[in-house]
Amino acid sequence: MDILSVLEDKKRKKALTKEQIEFFVRGAADGTLPDYQLAALLMAIRLNGMDARETADLTMAMARSGDMLSPQVGGVPVDKHSTGGVGDTTTLILAPLVAACGGKVLKMSGRGLGHTGGTVDKLESIAGFRVSLPEEEFVSIVRRVGCAVVGQSAQLAPADKRLYALRDVTATVDSIPLIVSSILSKKFAAGARAIVLDVKAGSGALMPTVEASIQLAQAMVDIGAHAGRSVIAVVSGMEEPLGSHVGNALEVREAIDVLAGRAGGPLKTVSLFLGAQMLVASGVADSEEAAQKMLAEALESGAGLRKLKEMITAQGGDSAVCDDPSLLPRAPYIRPVIAKTAGYLSHVNGTALGLAAQRMGAGRVRKEDPIDPAVGFVMEKRIGDRIEKGDVICTLHAKDETSAREAESRILDTLTLSPDPAPRARLLYALITPKGVTELCQ
Ligand code: URA
Ligand code: CA
Repeated sequence: MDILSVLEDKKRKKALTKEQIEFFVRGAADGTLPDYQLAALLMAIRLNGMDARETADLTMAMARSGDMLSPQVGGVPVDKHSTGGVGDTTTLILAPLVAACGGKVLKMSGRGLGHTGGTVDKLESIAGFRVSLPEEEFVSIVRRVGCAVVGQSAQLAPADKRLYALRDVTATVDSIPLIVSSILSKKFAAGARAIVLDVKAGSGALMPTVEASIQLAQAMVDIGAHAGRSVIAVVSGMEEPLGSHVGNALEVREAIDVLAGRAGGPLKTVSLFLGAQMLVASGVADSEEAAQKMLAEALESGAGLRKLKEMITAQGGDSAVCDDPSLLPRAPYIRPVIAKTAGYLSHVNGTALGLAAQRMGAGRVRKEDPIDPAVGFVMEKRIGDRIEKGDVICTLHAKDETSAREAESRILDTLTLSPDPAPRARLLYALITPKGVTELCQ
């Protein structure tokens, strides 16, 4: 086998054989193929596509390029993956809720980069919390508690690490076969048998339109079926942050508030919807209605919050934050941003809002940058709200006045006020299962 014949075939729009695919994935993982040939192949795939069989072969070859875990957790290991959001703390809400309903949530999460936050960074704002655990300990926590959240190990799908870095710098991220294989290979390697994907649609999302996001979701569900895993996808909106809190400790606080029954809104709605799909995908509930009922009970009874406490304790963290969120890191400088004009909030640039939090210190500019767990902001208004002059638009949690002033101007720039009433942003667009696409109107 040689790489030139693989390049030649994809250039001429031929489907690659399983052997050709395994050959170049091996070359990506072990370093025997140079960047320029891999980059050329990625562009050929981006332009000429891959059929379902090729995509399935690519996904499995990438999954097998490193360790393949098959954790014994006393049930069907279920994971949830979001394609990137701002103020999206659903994992911290649904992992304990699903566990309280009998699910086995084995969650591998990333760190935040750019405008999106990472669950692992959020959890590290809890004193003592360990996101890096030996596999055995991680699996034992999932078996005993029902959920654990850890960082992604470097031994999983190393081919993806190499290919993703190249895609990032060769304008080849927006390819359905490449996205599907990248996301699912990591999930398959981590041992998830049931996977719920939250595919974001809207400005700043991976795919430019809702239709393209649905296509991506369908491709992932198909490949899941091909690989014998239960994959369900949800296409959700990301026009504005899902929760009102943006920033690491602030988002942990909001998740605790939802689990304690003190907060609701879109973050709760979407968390319960995704949680229900996780219970269905892993066979814990036999219908979405049954799953919704189980989750509502776990929330109402406080069982979800108790599970979060158990998980935090098991991972070495101080679970007292669940009863007293004021124990979380607090920024020294807290003040409101006041509206200078009136109108209806008609548009929010979610990506720019995420970047405003990043600049305050909540996120990284470079991978190795430290983050400040305490800083960020709490939005007091959502798209569709009426704002009067003098209203509090948001509350800043900053390290000092200079940072607050900068954040204030960035945040105001992300908001568009209109004189006419504006509709609320769509939360959920579609549910995609092996049975087909169901349109959602929430
Ligand atoms: N996230 C991934 O892990 N891979 C992609 O290709 C896109 C988003
Ligand atoms: Ca927008």
